[in-house]
Amino acid sequence: MKKVNMKINIAGVELENPVMTASGTFGSGKEYGEYIDLSELGAVVVKGVASTPWKGNPSPRIAETYGGMLNSVGLQNPGIKEFIKEDIPFLKQYDTKIIVNIAGRTVEEYCEVVEALGDTDIDLLELNISCPNVKEGGVCFGTDPFMVEEVTKEVKKVAKQPLIVKLTPNVTDIVPIAKAAVKGGADALSLINTLLGMKIDIHRRKPVLANRMGGFSGPAIKPVAVRMVHQVAEAVDVPIIGMGGIMTGEDAIEFILAGATGVAVGTANFADPTATIKVIEGIENYLLEYGFENIEELRGNLLG
Ligand code: SIN
Repeated sequence: MKKVNMKINIAGVELENPVMTASGTFGSGKEYGEYIDLSELGAVVVKGVASTPWKGNPSPRIAETYGGMLNSVGLQNPGIKEFIKEDIPFLKQYDTKIIVNIAGRTVEEYCEVVEALGDTDIDLLELNISCPNVKEGGVCFGTDPFMVEEVTKEVKKVAKQPLIVKLTPNVTDIVPIAKAAVKGGADALSLINTLLGMKIDIHRRKPVLANRMGGFSGPAIKPVAVRMVHQVAEAVDVPIIGMGGIMTGEDAIEFILAGATGVAVGTANFADPTATIKVIEGIENYLLEYGFENIEELRGNLLG
């Protein structure tokens, strides 16, 4: 069978293919190892890691909705020490790239995590200034262009690996936010994180999530995500990792045509733990069907 070149480059790091996991939907990959070979993924993007362990928000913190789900996990994580001891050695068994999503309540906390990762063998950092489920840090940084630039600049000063900044869709216009991240020194951008949503149990007359609101993800948000990737790709020159409701190879192709270099699969992993592999195969099939030899030929290649 004819081979296609699926390799992409994010800030100097070469990935075998454009498909990654979306942070928060894949842990550090341990639960998925029995379903897929992690070496087949372009990269594993791990759940957000903070400077100390966080226990997350009270339950219930997951709810199904039409075309997706809500989560209010609140960045539960074991803290950077445990992550370095347990998760990096686990992931190093595989021939894939490691991207660490960084969580924090303050600029100092973000920097602590990034400094701790400085001498480890990970490939890229993803700064999470877009989680809607925490009171401090997260989305409160990500919705203000001034703060986005400042936090990016401070983190970039101490980062030894290239820095991706993950953007929130919960803004009126994502373009000034994206530009602020790039001005602050972001080497790449990932978008979108979840949309703030709410579900009510009408029989109990109470919000379904203990935290009342949560992040909405899944196929229903894909048109919003594709639109934002397109807008940001027209406005900045750094690589974009597109995500938001990717379930199939065809979905991923939409993001690449909108201007994304890489794509991340999130909520689909919960419905089908082999979803990432199917997305890789779907992209390959599309390239073959339409006669493209190289995935790079497809990026932003919109005809209208
Ligand atoms: C969470 O843990 O609350 C979700 C992570 C995120 O939205 O960044």
